[in-house]
Amino acid sequence: MSVIENAIKRLQASRESAGAPLLREQRAVTPPRRAEPEPGVSGRIIPIDLDALRAAGLLSPSHQERELAQQFRQIKRPLINNALGRGVKALPEGNLVMIASAVPGEGKTFTSLNLALSMRLEEDVTVLLVDGDVVNPRLSQVLGADDARGLLDIIKDPTLSASHAILQTDVPGLSFLPAGHQDPNATELLASARMREVVTQLAGHDPSRLVLFDSAPLLLTTESQALTQSAGQIVMVVRADDTPQHVVLEALDTLAESKSVSLVLNQSTKQPHAGYYYRYAAAQSADKDSGT
Ligand SMILES: Nc1ncnc2c1ncn2[C@@H]1O[C@H](COP(=O)(O)OP(=O)(O)O)[C@@H](O)[C@H]1O
Ligand SMILES: [Mg+2]
Repeated sequence: MSVIENAIKRLQASRESAGAPLLREQRAVTPPRRAEPEPGVSGRIIPIDLDALRAAGLLSPSHQERELAQQFRQIKRPLINNALGRGVKALPEGNLVMIASAVPGEGKTFTSLNLALSMRLEEDVTVLLVDGDVVNPRLSQVLGADDARGLLDIIKDPTLSASHAILQTDVPGLSFLPAGHQDPNATELLASARMREVVTQLAGHDPSRLVLFDSAPLLLTTESQALTQSAGQIVMVVRADDTPQHVVLEALDTLAESKSVSLVLNQSTKQPHAGYYYRYAAAQSADKDSGT
């Protein structure tokens, strides 16, 4: 049995007994939408330059776009259902979704961005992508907002509100909150009572707004562990055939039992007809993937 399968089985056992759902496969119909500024979002509009993001390795090459889009449809569906209570009971704070992983390079930033772009296509859903990787704010850098006011600044200054820092993008339904200026006390800031207020502002009293947090590696940073307290759903990205089982399990152990955790298997090469694939698989299809 593979490393990842073992991790998933353990996750299933612990979470199923707690009644928390795991990822399931479903398809979405994603109609086009018009660009409209969201309420509570500052005036500046940042462009989402798909070519630049592709060059930065954060979007798939064009020839694999369709396949990846399909995989992200499958991944987003249960997250959206849990957040909005569609067909299932809504999870507490299920609209706050953190993309986490044990160590760097597993695909958190890639997943955050692609999931955000996929989720925003949903009807009646808007997405706020938050650069919660305050240690290595790559999203803020590639989106040209690394100097902008962001999450840490709002937490630090109670006279600011989230709307002072959230940036509208030129992609309909997608806004972005940069990480903000670095602070040596970032962990304490993210774990603070003020962070709770900020998170409430991020959700914007709008049940249809999904807030997606990119984050720093759980096992290497205390900042990321602090951030888990704010999320209602946690997506653990595991780099297939690479991350050792004990590392995945150690990262899962840092999460509170009450959290709903899903696993995303990233960059698996186990495809029947290809050499290298950007493979995502939901937890429940992992057995099938590793067996073929
Ligand atoms: N599914 C994927 N397909 C293609 N490239 C990927 C995929 N996941 C991650 N990568 C690449 O792997 C590298 C690390 O991914 P990244 O999202 O930055 O990891 P993390 O944020 O966990 O440190 C990036 O250069 C990214 O381009
Ligand atoms: Mg990252």
